[in-house]
Amino acid sequence: MALWDVYYTVTNLDDAIRLLREHKEKARIMAGGTDLIVELQNKARTPSVLIDVTRVAGLDEIRLGYDDLIHIGPMVTHAQAAASPLLQEQARPLAQACWWVGAPALRNRGTIVGNLVTASPANDTITALRALRARLLLRSARGDRTVSIADYYTGVRRTVMEPDEMVADVMFAPLTANQRGVYLKLGLRRVLAIAVTNVAVVVKLDEHQHVTCARIALGSVAPTIIRAPEAEAALKGAPLDADRIAEAARLAAQAARPIDDVRGSAWFRTEEVSALVQRGLEAILVGDTRLGLPEPDALVRLWGKTKRAPKLRGPMIAHHTGGDEPIQCVVNGENVSVQGANGKTLLHMLRDDLGLTGAKPGCEEGECGACTVWLDGMATLACLTPAPRAHGASIVTVEGLSKDEQLHPVQQAFIDEDAVQCGYCTPGFVMSAAKLLEEMPHPTREQIKTALSGNLCRCTGYYKIIRAVEKAAEKQ
Ligand SMILES: Cc1cc2nc3c(=O)[nH]c(=O)nc-3n(C[C@H](O)[C@H](O)[C@H](O)COP(=O)(O)OP(=O)(O)OC[C@H]3O[C@@H](n4cnc5c(N)ncnc54)[C@H](O)[C@@H]3O)c2cc1C
Ligand code: FES
Ligand code: FES
Repeated sequence: MALWDVYYTVTNLDDAIRLLREHKEKARIMAGGTDLIVELQNKARTPSVLIDVTRVAGLDEIRLGYDDLIHIGPMVTHAQAAASPLLQEQARPLAQACWWVGAPALRNRGTIVGNLVTASPANDTITALRALRARLLLRSARGDRTVSIADYYTGVRRTVMEPDEMVADVMFAPLTANQRGVYLKLGLRRVLAIAVTNVAVVVKLDEHQHVTCARIALGSVAPTIIRAPEAEAALKGAPLDADRIAEAARLAAQAARPIDDVRGSAWFRTEEVSALVQRGLEAILVGDTRLGLPEPDALVRLWGKTKRAPKLRGPMIAHHTGGDEPIQCVVNGENVSVQGANGKTLLHMLRDDLGLTGAKPGCEEGECGACTVWLDGMATLACLTPAPRAHGASIVTVEGLSKDEQLHPVQQAFIDEDAVQCGYCTPGFVMSAAKLLEEMPHPTREQIKTALSGNLCRCTGYYKIIRAVEKAAEKQ
């Protein structure tokens, strides 16, 4: 069934703003689609017009501006942000929050702004940006306005943004030499897990190591992300020591107003707030705030050799569901032109219209990785990618991996190591692993595990799969 009526791919922001003014609540901006496609499939949202801004040049920049603020463009993805040297050094809580979102292929499409707009109190980047005191630039045909991140949210999945507005920029002051910040998350597992609770802490210390300012933000413990003012006040004006840390952790837990839900009880969440605030402040005290965030060069992105996804020029493109505008793209090195796929996901276009059944429908909501393909060089989940996003793009599926009738070394290693049982998950694993080896020819075991963390297998188990990737790396 068609998920939308018309899909516009715009090549500049003015067109996006014009379409928002024209269609208002009937329209939605399409960024990475990792929330929106799931919402469309569940009918939680039913916009008829989608406005894809992913091909507009210049929207995916992270920069330190002349105003001494860090600016995050609306198309900056979690993968980009986590690996940004600027964010790792001067906005570490945000880089950490992005690193803990989902899994690599999801981070390649999911954006910080999409995360902010979805407005779930469990979303990782909101907590980090609340502690960094970010402001959002909202743009519409009526003009621009800026809103502090504290004022942007009005409730669970509710914001002050009007239907004709979009987020055009996120800005905040970088951490200075005497400020330290950290982000911590507790999920039910380490990857692909929405936070049970998350915490971001930013502390400013004077030359005597006394706290002059503290900001503690708490996620998933109230309808919106909240600060813990009593805990912040308890730290101010005193040295950061074990007693103060324990007191601040206790007071932060008092600020939490969590509910019981499937991920955790209110009691558990309250206890966790205290534990996470304590751990964060201790990390700041000892000056070791990295907490598992890999250095930019060691961070797995599954981009291979890709530096930036290509942008489109020229007039905007409309693909109507049921219309005859073809989706023209390169699939496994061949030009193709597909009609009748305008209202589908890329996964269904590949399988139903092109007969490429290697990419599998496992969960169709981003959880299993069985649909992993390469879109413009990056590992991507085809089930969360709209088919019209493929227009003008290059896609590689598992069918296109072998060259001159020679299997890719990863495919061969999966056979040699018996890393396959029913085989349903295998194309997804192979596509993730092959992209990893393009990016890091000699990955560590930890990097292999990260690269495959978004791929689930219900039968073979993971040891043989990891071993196969190690073997393929050895042979390369
Ligand atoms: C399997 C899975 C695991 C996940 N794990 C996590 C996790 O661990 N932590 C976490 O925080 N999130 C997680 N998410 C949620 C999701 O990946 C993020 O919220 C993502 O950042 C959304 O960004 P996007 O670019 O995909 O947004 P989209 O899905 O494209 O859009 C999301 C919403 O934002 C709107 N929007 C996007 N850009 C703009 C703009 N510039 N202006 C106005 N409106 C805009 C869209 O219209 C839509 O309503 C997960 C999702 C899935 C499917
Ligand atoms: S992640 Fe796409 S089918 Fe499961
Ligand atoms: S081999 Fe059967 S799901 Fe992985």
